[in-house]
Amino acid sequence: MSSSNLSHHEGIQSSSFVVSLHGDKSITHRAFMFAAIAEGISIIDNVGGGEDLASTRHVLAQLGATFTQLDSGWQVIGVGGIDRLAPPQQVLNCGNSGTTMRLLAGLLSGCQTTVILDGDASLRRRPMRRIAKVLTPLGRGLDTAEHGGAPIRVGGSLNLENTQKHTEPVVIDTQSSSAQLKSAALLAGLSAKYPVIVNEQALSRDHTERMLAALLGRTPSNISAPLSTPLPAFTLHSPGDPSSAAFWVAVAALSPHWAPSIFLKGVNLNPTRLGLFRIAQRMGMKISMEVNETRLGEPVGDIIIQTLPKGQRLQAITIRGRDSLDALDELPIVALLGSLAFGTTVVSDAAELRVKESNRLDAMTVGLSRLGAQIKTLDDGWSIQGINSFTTDQPIEVDSKGDHRIAMCLLIAQLACPPAHVTVHGLDCIAVSYPEFINLLRSYQTETERNHPSESD
Ligand code: S3P
Repeated sequence: MSSSNLSHHEGIQSSSFVVSLHGDKSITHRAFMFAAIAEGISIIDNVGGGEDLASTRHVLAQLGATFTQLDSGWQVIGVGGIDRLAPPQQVLNCGNSGTTMRLLAGLLSGCQTTVILDGDASLRRRPMRRIAKVLTPLGRGLDTAEHGGAPIRVGGSLNLENTQKHTEPVVIDTQSSSAQLKSAALLAGLSAKYPVIVNEQALSRDHTERMLAALLGRTPSNISAPLSTPLPAFTLHSPGDPSSAAFWVAVAALSPHWAPSIFLKGVNLNPTRLGLFRIAQRMGMKISMEVNETRLGEPVGDIIIQTLPKGQRLQAITIRGRDSLDALDELPIVALLGSLAFGTTVVSDAAELRVKESNRLDAMTVGLSRLGAQIKTLDDGWSIQGINSFTTDQPIEVDSKGDHRIAMCLLIAQLACPPAHVTVHGLDCIAVSYPEFINLLRSYQTETERNHPSESD
C-alpha cells in the first residue's frame, strides 16, 4: 500500500482530527444480500444510517429475511437459499440506490415468480437495459419501462426455458467496467445450472468476488458457480467507506484553518477504491495508507491525510483510464481540487458520470462555475483551469441536483469561500450515503477555528 513520509500513527492520532467512518456502502449492500440467502444468523456491524442501505434491507425483508437492529448494526436471519426467498407481494422499492436495483436484478433473475423493482425519480431515469444484456446469455429476461429505466421486471415467465445442457461454463462479457453489472451477472450465476464466467473491460471494484470467495473458502475469481448448499452465516464489522473518507481529502485541501492532519481509522483499502487518494497524492497531498487486517477478503487499515499548508496550491494533473475508474464515485472531488490547483486538470474516461444519481459532469460544472471556477464539461470528463481562489463578491446560491456526492462537494467548496457568501440548496440527499457528514464537518470547523483562530483571518 502506498505510503508517504507520515509515520508513527499513534502520535499523529493524538494531534489529529479523528473521523470514525461508518461501514462501506458497497460492501454492506453485498453483506446484506449474502446474509439474506445464507443459512443461519449473520451479524453485520458498523452499518451506517444511509438511506441506500435501508432500501436494500427493506427489499430483502420483503423477500423473507429477518433484520433486527443492534447497537451499531444488524442481525440477519437468512432464508437458507435463493430458491427459498418468499415471492414478494408488492413492488420492491429500491429508493435512490442503483446498487440495490442492479445487484438484486441479478440475484432475483432466477426466481420462479416475477419480481418488480422500482425506485425514486432519479433511479427511474438511470439506464437498466444494460442489465438485460448481461442476463441474456443465461436465458434470463428483464423488462424495463419504455424509456429503458425502472420499473424493471425479472424472473418468472420472463425466463426462457433453458433446456440446453451446458457442459462448458457460460461466458458473460459485461462490455464495460461496471461493478454493478459484473455483480448482477455473478449473483445470477449462483442460481444457474452451470458455472458462469464474467469478463469485463477492466477490473471494477471486486467486492462481490472477494466476499463470495471468503464465504466459500475459495480464492476470489470472476467465476460464479451454482451453490450446492446455502452460503454459511457470517459476522462482519464493515470496514470504513473510502468513498466517504475521500471527502476528508477535500476538506484537508481546502480548509482555511490549519489542523495537523485528519485520521481515518479502519477504512476499506481495496485498491479498486483508492483512486482519489492516489490522485490527490499526485497533486501534492500527503496521505498515508496502511493495511493492518483483512475482513471477509477486504484489506482494512488507516488513512492519515495531512492538511495542505496555508498558501500552498495543489498541482494540476491529467486523469484517465484506470485512475478514472478507481476514483469513479470520487471524480466530483477531483473537479473541486482541480478548480484551485496550479495549471489545467483534465479528467477523461468518465462519461459514466452522466448517468449517476445526477449528471455529475454538468452538476459540478454548473456548481463550481458559480463560484468562479474555470471548468468546462467535455464529452467524457472536464477540463479545469485552476484559479487562486473562488471569487464570490455577491451572495451565491448553488444546487446539489439532489445528488449526495455533489451536495458534499459543494458544501466543502463553501469552506474556501468567504463566510456566508454561498448557500448550498438540496443538502437533504446527503442522507443517502453519509448522514453524519454535515455535523462532522461543523465539528471540524469549530475545532480548527478554536485551536487556530489566527488562521481564520
Ligand atoms: C457500485 C458500483 C459503481 C459505483 C456505485 C457503487 C457497487 O457503479 O459507481 O456507486 O457497489 O457495485 P457502476 O457499477 O455502475 O460503475
